[in-house]
Amino acid sequence: MAEAVASHPSCVLGLATGSTPLQVYSELCRRHREDGLSFGDVTTFNLDEYLGLKVGHPQSYRHFMQTQLFDQVDIDIPRTHFPDVHADDVQQASEHYEHQLSESGGIDLQLLGIGTNGHIGFNEPGTTLESLTRVVDLAPSTIRSNTRFFESAEQVPRQAITMGIASILRAKKVVLLATGAAKAAAVAGAIQGPITADNPASYLQSHADVLFVLDEPAAAQLD
Ligand code: F6R
Repeated sequence: MAEAVASHPSCVLGLATGSTPLQVYSELCRRHREDGLSFGDVTTFNLDEYLGLKVGHPQSYRHFMQTQLFDQVDIDIPRTHFPDVHADDVQQASEHYEHQLSESGGIDLQLLGIGTNGHIGFNEPGTTLESLTRVVDLAPSTIRSNTRFFESAEQVPRQAITMGIASILRAKKVVLLATGAAKAAAVAGAIQGPITADNPASYLQSHADVLFVLDEPAAAQLD
């Protein structure tokens, strides 16, 4: 990502939240601080945002990005984009996000994590290849897994706006990060299994430029 920014200062980055990319963001902050890597002309689009949390909620993805990256680098906040989950018409807001994505010229580098069920963004099993930015229900396993960030399971939002599979596949380059044994089955299915809605990350097989960055436990079920 640092190379993408250094070689193309006005690049468009697609960003993910969650535990997995934390070290990526802290390294990007270090490169800004110590090497002068500038984000001044960079545009960003986050993959997703929860519906139903108050503006500024500590578990909102906007808040996550502010604290992990945006507040520590010279990024121009109006160039940082999230689906507008506070709009009166969230369906229209989703369509507007998709429009903003294409108006930006498209994502140069999309960073992804992966759910234990193979979700990318909040594209849960059952998502179609043609899906665009839209309102989605979170899978029970996603709610369970994200309870660790909230005081109780009841507080985890049940819905989100997420970029779709087609939106993600339009990125010029995709980098998916996965760590830990809990991701091993989803990773193996995504790389070596059939392309199927049961494992939405498997749709990445139809993209020409995808890099999976895995630790050994996450790679353990690959042949
Ligand atoms: C986050 C996102 C999700 C996460 C995935 C893995 O913006 O879109 O798909 O990447 O749930 O989350 P962690 O990294 O917390 O295991």
